[in-house]
Amino acid sequence: MAPAVFVEQLDAFRAERLAPIVAAGRVSLADGAPGDAKRLLQVALANEISVAELAAAWVPRCVEVDVKIALARQAGDEAGHFQLVAERLSALGFDVASFKAPGANPLFDYLANLSTTVERIAAGLFALESIAYAVNENFMAFCERRGDAETVRIYRDFIQPDERAHQQLGRQLLDKYAVGPEAQGAAQAAVAKVLEMAAAGRAQAAERMGTACFPGC
Ligand SMILES: [Fe+2]
Ligand SMILES: [Fe+2]
Repeated sequence: MAPAVFVEQLDAFRAERLAPIVAAGRVSLADGAPGDAKRLLQVALANEISVAELAAAWVPRCVEVDVKIALARQAGDEAGHFQLVAERLSALGFDVASFKAPGANPLFDYLANLSTTVERIAAGLFALESIAYAVNENFMAFCERRGDAETVRIYRDFIQPDERAHQQLGRQLLDKYAVGPEAQGAAQAAVAKVLEMAAAGRAQAAERMGTACFPGC
């Protein structure tokens, strides 16, 4: 299949699998489910640092220069998001010095062990970043309802434009690297796996936190 046609189909598949994750957040919003904003922002801290580490770990493992640079820039952006969220948490009275980097997590373990460039682009930039963008929209709606305009502003003006750019870059890189049946099959499987693992992990976390409106990365 021509890469452009493949990526078009993969994008439709991604959107279909993402829909229930977004819908879970909308249900929490409609229910007026409570949630502790500081706790939800700590989820963002954990996600931002995990994805910064992942992107950085992939830089030396990808031989393609444009992919290396995309991942290195992403790692820097995600570190910037960590900093923005940490500053917001401090302003809300949370002692950021007490935050510990998250331990092992099945989704990030799966991602870290992917062995090809095309799978890393598909799973990371293309799939994970689209989840981040979508769930952050629900998180912003949750903050808006609580009257937390400053957190909404940080996401709207700084974090979301980056997450969208990461996803678009993933799509462009797939157009270039998802060539041939083997690469396309691997990319499709990686996108399916990330969405499946994210849906399961987020459903579990929503039980613990009392809302599905927590942010991504
Ligand atoms: Fe991101
Ligand atoms: Fe981020």
